Order: sequence, then C-alpha cells, then structure tokens
Amino acid sequence: MIIGIIGAMDEEIEILLDKLNLRKKDLKGNMEFNCGKLFSKEVVLVRSGIGKVNAAICSQILIDDYNVDIIINVGVAGGVRFDIYPGDIVIGNNLVQYDMDTSAFGDKIGQVPRLDTYDFKCDEKLIDIAKKACAFLEGHNYFVGRIVSGDQFINDVDKIKWFNDEFKAYACEMEGASIAQVCYLNKVPFVVIRSISDNASNGAHIDYEKFKIIAVQNSCNILKNMLEIM
Ligand code: ADE
Repeated sequence: MIIGIIGAMDEEIEILLDKLNLRKKDLKGNMEFNCGKLFSKEVVLVRSGIGKVNAAICSQILIDDYNVDIIINVGVAGGVRFDIYPGDIVIGNNLVQYDMDTSAFGDKIGQVPRLDTYDFKCDEKLIDIAKKACAFLEGHNYFVGRIVSGDQFINDVDKIKWFNDEFKAYACEMEGASIAQVCYLNKVPFVVIRSISDNASNGAHIDYEKFKIIAVQNSCNILKNMLEIM
C-alpha cells in the first residue's frame, strides 16, 4: 500500500521529512514529491502549497503519477467550535468548501454544483485509526467532525459564527475539502487530520504564530502513531 501524505506548508511536513527514508524526489507543479519509507510504511510525502487549487493539483498528481492507495492530509487549522483550543486535534469526518456559492440557482452554500454529494466523507477505517492514534495525546482533546475549507485565512468572529450556524463546523482551513473532492472523484479513501493553531476569531494571526509549532508537532505525532498502527 502506498500512502500519500499532504501538508500545505513546509513547516507542516518538515518533522516528517526529517524521519523519511528518502528513495527519490521529483519536482512537479512546484511541489516536491518525496518517495520513501516513513515509520516502515511506503509513502509519498509532499508540500502542496497553500489553498484549494494547489491542494487539488497535488492530490491528482499523487493519484495519477504515484498510484497512492489512500491520502492523509495533515496540518494546522482554525478552531470553529468554542470548546476547541490550540493544540487540540480535529479529525475530519466530512469536508465542505464554504466558499462554493451557487445559491443564486437554489443550491445550498458549499454544494459543488451538479455533484451528487454535498459533503465529502472521510474513510471510516482511517477515522478509526486516527482516533486510536489520538489516544496518546496528552493535555489536549480530540474531536471528530466537519472541517470547512476556503481560500481565506479566517480572523473574524462573525465568520466563525456563520461556520457554526451554517455548517456545524469544528475547524476551518484552506485545503482539506479540495483534497476531499479530488479523492471523492477518484474513489480514493482519505482522511484530514488538523491540529488547532488559533480560534479563527479576531486577532487569530497572532495566536497562529504563537501556537503553530505545538499544533504542527501534534498533527505530525498523530500521523506517526497512525502509520505505526496501520
Ligand atoms: N489554518 C490555521 N488557522 C487558520 C485560519 N484561521 N483560517 C484558515 N486556515 C487556517
């Protein structure tokens, strides 16, 4: 089994890259696809770049050129629910693109027009493995719930309220739902695991800088635990 692992930013994958037993590295679409063994599993580890377009391109390359069997997306996110704090983990059970809006034609906001699903569901078995991997988490909680994605860094309390009311979201970030859409279209099982770096409310960019390091450590630790369980 070949596992595709995507992080949006260098900081989100560098701990893993350090541990990777690298066999080969290819450059495609300004992304380095690092192939090798990570905690004795065959992986392709890649930094996609920020945002939904980068993440979608990256996912399709992983599927077409590297024949990955599953995709795991790791990294940081803004917390949406008020009981979620920096360092906590959100395992996505489904993903929605909050900035997809064809409501003028009667669609629900987030619905990709003319697609037969509203949300993109993560693989149940991978969610279970991620939950088990979280059992080792000390001092932080983990949640399983909806993650919403869009091409914006959110630092606005009104947007957070809207994410709560409209989407019942647990966390927001900028890639997961596009990876999820590509996986859905290609029938590739996937899961999104994010650690909270900020509460996405006013001033979130300040918290983000403060908590990013611990959040990245947590998401990489969960991934390590997952690979060891699998
Ligand atoms: N990733 C981490 N924090 C975020 C936020 N507040 N908005 C979007 N993506 C994020």
